[in-house]
Amino acid sequence: MKRLNTVLQNDGAPLELILLIRTLLAACKEISFRVGQGALAGVLGSTLSENVQGETQKKLDVISNQILKDILSESGYVKAISSEEEETVVPCNPDGKYLVSYDPLDGSSNTDINSLIGTIFSITHAPQWMDPSDPSAFLQPGTQMVAAGYVLYGPSTMLAMTTGRGTHLYTLDKTHGGFLLAEENISVPEQTKEFAINSSNQRHWEAPMQDYISDLLMGSEGPRGKDFNMRWVGAMVGDIHRILCRGGIFSYPFDKRNPKIPGKLRLLYEANPMSFLIEQAGGAASTGAGRILEVMPTEIHQRVPVIMGSKEEVETCVGYHSK
Ligand code: AHG
Ligand code: MN
Ligand code: MN
Repeated sequence: MKRLNTVLQNDGAPLELILLIRTLLAACKEISFRVGQGALAGVLGSTLSENVQGETQKKLDVISNQILKDILSESGYVKAISSEEEETVVPCNPDGKYLVSYDPLDGSSNTDINSLIGTIFSITHAPQWMDPSDPSAFLQPGTQMVAAGYVLYGPSTMLAMTTGRGTHLYTLDKTHGGFLLAEENISVPEQTKEFAINSSNQRHWEAPMQDYISDLLMGSEGPRGKDFNMRWVGAMVGDIHRILCRGGIFSYPFDKRNPKIPGKLRLLYEANPMSFLIEQAGGAASTGAGRILEVMPTEIHQRVPVIMGSKEEVETCVGYHSK
């Protein structure tokens, strides 16, 4: 089985980027270990604090954020960090070549039920002119990413990553601590019969999403002429992993409850890295109005509507939005 280093070198990744990725993955291995200890290490449950998005932080949100922040800021490769769990950017090394955005623990409501969770990350170049504490350098469209991925803490710890030359899957070999290639150049089937959406929010969706999902639910008796299956992990990493493995469509759509919040998921460290992985595997990722990777961010915690997965199904869903 090929090692991560070999694959990154074959894909032409520059040495400093490889070293940064290895550093980031060292942090993820530590998170994987802490997650695995669960109740034995007293890491489950909530803290008394909220993050900038007004969500109660789980103990593992705080621990994972700290592990990543410590390791990345000491590495020297990183100029600044933006994280779901940090109100503003964290300045690191003024000479660092890269910016890293991350969701330290995605799906953290799953921590207390021993279910799927993961870390999502994206890496871009740091502009030389940039002051490390200035958030504006993070406001680049997703097309500028040089690498993105997630580490899924499941029955096995898996990494999905792209540097723009396909999406590859790796499994952490816990006996020696290395990520070994599980599948190279994964390809998301263009068609699917499986969708993922939190339908408890249905009454808050706009008409195009209402119509699209209602047509899926009519199955073989409706305009789609086939039956669909539904899955919802409650952690985007889990849902996107399933879609990378066997296809499907995932959506967290626009929600009419608060017009100022155009969706739940965050552009920089959820929607963008997942869109890069999905596109590099032959899938598609849209806000309903355009390609997610082309959205110009206006702030680091910006949220976007998300529709991603199997290409033809995403196009069908987006078609309802342009009717
Ligand atoms: P996080 O745990 O990082 O806040 O992200 C949770 C996100 C995403 O992973 C998942 O798809 C979605 O929230 C689940 O939302 P619901 O609880 O509304 O189902
Ligand atoms: Mn998340
Ligand atoms: Mn999170």
